[in-house]
Amino acid sequence: MTIISPSILSADFANLERDIKLVEDAGADWIHVDVMDGHFVPNITIGVPVVKSIKKVTKLPLDVHLMIENPEKYTEAFINAGADILTFHYEATSNPEALISKIKSMGAKAGMSIKPKTKAEDILKFLPLLDLVLVMTVEPGFGGQSFIDNCAEKLPIIKSKAQDDLIIQVDGGINDKTAKICRDFGANSLVAGSYIYKSKDLNEAITSLK
Ligand code: DX5
Ligand code: ZN
Repeated sequence: MTIISPSILSADFANLERDIKLVEDAGADWIHVDVMDGHFVPNITIGVPVVKSIKKVTKLPLDVHLMIENPEKYTEAFINAGADILTFHYEATSNPEALISKIKSMGAKAGMSIKPKTKAEDILKFLPLLDLVLVMTVEPGFGGQSFIDNCAEKLPIIKSKAQDDLIIQVDGGINDKTAKICRDFGANSLVAGSYIYKSKDLNEAITSLK
Protein backbone atom coordinates (compact mmCIF):
# COMPACT_ATOMS: atom_id res chain seq x y z
CA MET A 1 0.00 0.00 0.00
CA THR A 2 1.56 3.27 -1.16
CA ILE A 3 0.21 6.57 0.15
CA ILE A 4 -0.17 8.98 -2.76
CA SER A 5 -0.05 12.64 -1.80
CA PRO A 6 -0.61 14.97 -4.78
CA SER A 7 1.11 18.33 -4.37
CA ILE A 8 -1.25 21.23 -4.97
CA LEU A 9 1.76 23.38 -5.86
CA SER A 10 1.00 22.30 -9.44
CA ALA A 11 -2.73 23.05 -9.10
CA ASP A 12 -4.42 26.28 -10.21
CA PHE A 13 -4.38 28.47 -7.08
CA ALA A 14 -7.44 30.33 -8.35
CA ASN A 15 -9.32 27.02 -8.44
CA LEU A 16 -7.93 25.11 -5.49
CA GLU A 17 -11.21 23.54 -4.43
CA ARG A 18 -11.84 22.24 -7.96
CA ASP A 19 -8.29 20.90 -8.29
CA ILE A 20 -8.37 19.21 -4.88
CA LYS A 21 -11.64 17.47 -5.83
CA LEU A 22 -10.01 16.30 -9.06
CA VAL A 23 -7.28 14.38 -7.23
CA GLU A 24 -9.71 13.21 -4.54
CA ASP A 25 -11.91 11.65 -7.22
CA ALA A 26 -8.84 10.19 -8.91
CA GLY A 27 -7.86 8.20 -5.81
CA ALA A 28 -5.46 10.44 -3.85
CA ASP A 29 -4.85 9.40 -0.24
CA TRP A 30 -3.59 12.72 1.14
CA ILE A 31 -3.28 16.32 -0.05
CA HIS A 32 0.31 17.64 0.01
CA VAL A 33 0.54 21.34 0.84
CA ASP A 34 3.88 23.07 0.21
CA VAL A 35 4.52 26.02 2.50
CA MET A 36 7.50 28.19 1.48
CA ASP A 37 8.73 31.37 3.12
CA GLY A 38 11.25 32.90 0.70
CA HIS A 39 14.04 32.36 3.27
CA PHE A 40 14.51 28.63 3.74
CA VAL A 41 13.82 28.23 0.02
CA PRO A 42 13.91 30.84 -2.77
CA ASN A 43 10.13 30.84 -3.32
CA ILE A 44 7.00 31.98 -1.50
CA THR A 45 3.75 30.00 -1.64
CA ILE A 46 0.93 29.83 0.86
CA GLY A 47 0.41 30.02 4.60
CA VAL A 48 -2.00 29.35 7.46
CA PRO A 49 -5.18 31.01 6.05
CA VAL A 50 -5.04 28.93 2.88
CA VAL A 51 -4.55 25.70 4.84
CA LYS A 52 -7.59 26.66 6.91
CA SER A 53 -9.68 27.17 3.77
CA ILE A 54 -8.50 23.94 2.15
CA LYS A 55 -9.43 22.00 5.27
CA LYS A 56 -13.08 22.96 4.71
CA VAL A 57 -13.25 21.51 1.21
CA THR A 58 -11.63 18.09 1.62
CA LYS A 59 -11.96 15.09 3.89
CA LEU A 60 -8.50 13.82 2.94
CA PRO A 61 -5.69 14.28 5.48
CA LEU A 62 -3.64 17.44 4.91
CA ASP A 63 0.04 16.60 4.55
CA VAL A 64 1.70 19.95 5.21
CA HIS A 65 5.35 20.30 4.15
CA LEU A 66 6.95 23.30 5.84
CA MET A 67 9.89 24.72 3.90
CA ILE A 68 10.35 27.59 6.33
CA GLU A 69 12.84 28.90 8.85
CA ASN A 70 11.84 28.71 12.53
CA PRO A 71 9.17 26.04 12.01
CA GLU A 72 8.62 25.93 15.80
CA LYS A 73 7.05 29.40 15.60
CA TYR A 74 4.25 28.25 13.31
CA THR A 75 3.57 24.68 14.46
CA GLU A 76 0.49 25.48 16.50
CA ALA A 77 -1.00 27.72 13.84
CA PHE A 78 -0.68 25.11 11.10
CA ILE A 79 -2.10 22.31 13.23
CA ASN A 80 -4.97 24.50 14.38
CA ALA A 81 -5.61 25.35 10.73
CA GLY A 82 -6.01 21.65 9.94
CA ALA A 83 -2.64 20.04 9.24
CA ASP A 84 -2.94 16.30 9.96
CA ILE A 85 0.69 15.58 9.15
CA LEU A 86 3.18 18.37 9.80
CA THR A 87 6.62 17.94 8.25
CA PHE A 88 9.46 20.33 9.01
CA HIS A 89 13.02 20.40 7.68
CA TYR A 90 15.84 18.98 9.78
CA GLU A 91 18.06 21.78 8.43
CA ALA A 92 15.66 24.48 9.69
CA THR A 93 15.61 23.75 13.41
CA SER A 94 18.13 23.44 16.21
CA ASN A 95 15.90 21.31 18.43
CA PRO A 96 14.12 18.60 16.42
CA GLU A 97 13.13 16.58 19.51
CA ALA A 98 11.20 19.49 21.02
CA LEU A 99 9.47 20.20 17.74
CA ILE A 100 8.47 16.56 17.25
CA SER A 101 6.95 16.39 20.75
CA LYS A 102 5.09 19.65 20.22
CA ILE A 103 3.55 18.38 16.96
CA LYS A 104 2.57 15.06 18.53
CA SER A 105 1.18 16.64 21.68
CA MET A 106 -1.25 18.55 19.46
CA GLY A 107 -2.49 15.30 17.91
CA ALA A 108 -0.84 15.60 14.50
CA LYS A 109 1.64 13.21 12.88
CA ALA A 110 5.22 14.46 13.01
CA GLY A 111 7.38 14.41 9.89
CA MET A 112 10.99 15.39 9.30
CA SER A 113 12.41 16.16 5.88
CA ILE A 114 15.95 16.23 4.55
CA LYS A 115 17.31 18.17 1.58
CA PRO A 116 19.37 16.40 -1.13
CA LYS A 117 22.72 17.31 0.48
CA THR A 118 21.79 16.10 3.98
CA LYS A 119 22.89 12.57 4.85
CA ALA A 120 20.39 9.92 5.93
CA GLU A 121 22.75 9.03 8.80
CA ASP A 122 22.20 12.50 10.33
CA ILE A 123 18.56 11.77 11.16
CA LEU A 124 18.60 8.07 12.05
CA LYS A 125 18.53 8.79 15.77
CA PHE A 126 15.21 10.63 15.39
CA LEU A 127 13.39 7.81 13.57
CA PRO A 128 11.81 6.22 16.67
CA LEU A 129 10.24 9.58 17.54
CA LEU A 130 8.84 10.25 14.08
CA ASP A 131 5.70 9.22 12.18
CA LEU A 132 7.14 10.18 8.79
CA VAL A 133 10.46 10.89 7.11
CA LEU A 134 10.46 12.87 3.88
CA VAL A 135 13.45 12.40 1.59
CA MET A 136 13.61 15.28 -0.89
CA THR A 137 14.59 14.09 -4.35
CA VAL A 138 14.98 17.65 -5.71
CA GLU A 139 16.24 20.86 -4.07
CA PRO A 140 13.10 22.15 -2.32
CA GLY A 141 11.52 25.30 -3.72
CA PHE A 142 9.86 24.54 -7.02
CA GLY A 143 7.68 21.95 -8.72
CA GLY A 144 8.56 20.42 -12.06
CA GLN A 145 12.27 19.71 -11.43
CA SER A 146 14.11 16.51 -12.37
CA PHE A 147 14.56 13.68 -9.90
CA ILE A 148 18.07 13.49 -8.39
CA ASP A 149 18.92 9.79 -8.64
CA ASN A 150 21.39 9.46 -5.79
CA CYS A 151 18.88 10.83 -3.24
CA ALA A 152 17.01 7.52 -3.53
CA GLU A 153 20.07 5.78 -2.06
CA LYS A 154 19.12 7.23 1.33
CA LEU A 155 15.89 5.20 1.35
CA PRO A 156 17.36 1.75 2.14
CA ILE A 157 19.53 3.29 4.88
CA ILE A 158 16.44 4.77 6.51
CA LYS A 159 14.32 1.68 5.86
CA SER A 160 16.89 -0.61 7.52
CA LYS A 161 16.67 1.35 10.78
CA ALA A 162 12.98 2.27 10.67
CA GLN A 163 10.16 0.93 12.84
CA ASP A 164 7.50 -0.97 10.84
CA ASP A 165 4.96 1.83 10.85
CA LEU A 166 7.28 4.66 9.81
CA ILE A 167 6.04 6.40 6.68
CA ILE A 168 8.95 6.89 4.29
CA GLN A 169 7.98 9.58 1.80
CA VAL A 170 9.72 11.00 -1.26
CA ASP A 171 9.05 14.35 -2.92
CA GLY A 172 10.40 15.89 -6.12
CA GLY A 173 10.46 14.67 -9.71
CA ILE A 174 8.18 11.71 -9.01
CA ASN A 175 6.59 10.07 -12.06
CA ASP A 176 5.72 6.47 -12.96
CA LYS A 177 9.41 5.60 -13.50
CA THR A 178 11.00 7.32 -10.50
CA ALA A 179 8.11 6.09 -8.31
CA LYS A 180 9.16 2.52 -9.10
CA ILE A 181 12.79 3.25 -8.12
CA CYS A 182 11.65 4.81 -4.84
CA ARG A 183 9.25 1.96 -4.05
CA ASP A 184 11.98 -0.60 -4.70
CA PHE A 185 14.31 1.36 -2.41
CA GLY A 186 11.81 1.41 0.46
CA ALA A 187 9.48 4.43 0.08
CA ASN A 188 5.83 3.85 1.01
CA SER A 189 4.52 7.35 0.29
CA LEU A 190 4.94 9.39 -2.88
CA VAL A 191 4.39 13.11 -3.37
CA ALA A 192 3.82 14.18 -6.96
CA GLY A 193 2.80 17.56 -8.33
CA SER A 194 3.46 18.13 -12.01
CA TYR A 195 3.23 14.45 -12.98
CA ILE A 196 -0.34 14.27 -11.68
CA TYR A 197 -1.65 17.73 -12.52
CA LYS A 198 -0.12 17.89 -15.99
CA SER A 199 -1.42 14.47 -17.03
CA LYS A 200 -4.49 14.20 -19.27
CA ASP A 201 -5.99 11.47 -17.10
CA LEU A 202 -5.46 12.07 -13.38
CA ASN A 203 -6.95 8.71 -12.50
CA GLU A 204 -4.46 6.92 -14.69
CA ALA A 205 -1.58 9.01 -13.29
CA ILE A 206 -2.45 8.19 -9.67
CA THR A 207 -3.07 4.52 -10.50
CA SER A 208 0.31 4.30 -12.23
CA LEU A 209 2.00 5.65 -9.09
CA LYS A 210 0.20 3.15 -6.88
C1 DX5 B 1 9.19 21.12 -3.98
C2 DX5 B 1 7.94 20.65 -3.29
C3 DX5 B 1 7.26 19.54 -3.97
C4 DX5 B 1 6.77 19.87 -5.37
C5 DX5 B 1 6.93 18.63 -6.16
O1 DX5 B 1 9.96 21.85 -3.14
O2 DX5 B 1 8.23 20.22 -1.96
O3 DX5 B 1 6.17 19.03 -3.19
O4 DX5 B 1 5.45 20.30 -5.47
O5 DX5 B 1 6.67 18.90 -7.48
P1 DX5 B 1 6.98 17.85 -8.64
O6 DX5 B 1 6.25 16.60 -8.32
O7 DX5 B 1 6.48 18.54 -9.85
O8 DX5 B 1 8.48 17.65 -8.65
ZN1 ZN C 1 6.61 19.12 -0.85
